[in-house]
Amino acid sequence: MTMIKTIAFLSSPRPKGNSDILAEEILKGAAEAGAETEKVRLHGLKIQPCHACNACQRSIEAFCVIKDDMHLLLDKLRLADAFVLASPIYFCSVNAQMKLFLDRWYALFEEDSADTLRGKRMALAFTYGDKDIFASGTINALRMFQDAAFALGIELVGWVYASCLKAGEVLYNPAVMQAARMLGQKLARPK
Ligand SMILES: Cc1cc2nc3c(=O)[nH]c(=O)nc-3n(C[C@H](O)[C@H](O)[C@H](O)COP(=O)(O)O)c2cc1C
Repeated sequence: MTMIKTIAFLSSPRPKGNSDILAEEILKGAAEAGAETEKVRLHGLKIQPCHACNACQRSIEAFCVIKDDMHLLLDKLRLADAFVLASPIYFCSVNAQMKLFLDRWYALFEEDSADTLRGKRMALAFTYGDKDIFASGTINALRMFQDAAFALGIELVGWVYASCLKAGEVLYNPAVMQAARMLGQKLARPK
């Protein structure tokens, strides 16, 4: 039985943000299913926007030419079997920290069966202040990741989301905390 390496990438700028808490609960579930887990906070890392120079697309071996912290994160994505992406909803989509990170995945995009991320598993966690996934714009973030997963050959295992405003508030929503834990178990089920 292979151990699943699961990495959560958290984009909230708030320590103990609601989306962080959901991601941590997903990791807990993954650990219960036997995964090795790791957590990376994106806020505060140096992640420049993609320059669209296409240098990374010249060959399978070609790398992104921007010298910043994203290289470490690209290595983590290459090594992971599964990952969790957690974002607060800002202006009806993911926040800027998450979008900068996602655009730079272009360096892993090969447009054929050699895609670096093909076959890896992904789970999502979103938190928002409005009343539901439509009024808050969470649906836009979810649809973006569904299409991105399809394009990259990633298995989108599932998602959790919750309405909450103040940091830590999601802890008072036992239903979503339990859903997050179960999602983690599913994410890390043995291959
Ligand atoms: C700049 C900014 C924009 C926001 N935009 C939205 C929004 O469009 N829709 C929404 O429902 N909540 C919005 N919110 C509320 C947050 O999504 C909410 O507080 C969420 O719980 C934050 O998650 P976090 O604790 O993981 O940071 C916004 C908050 C901020 C700071």
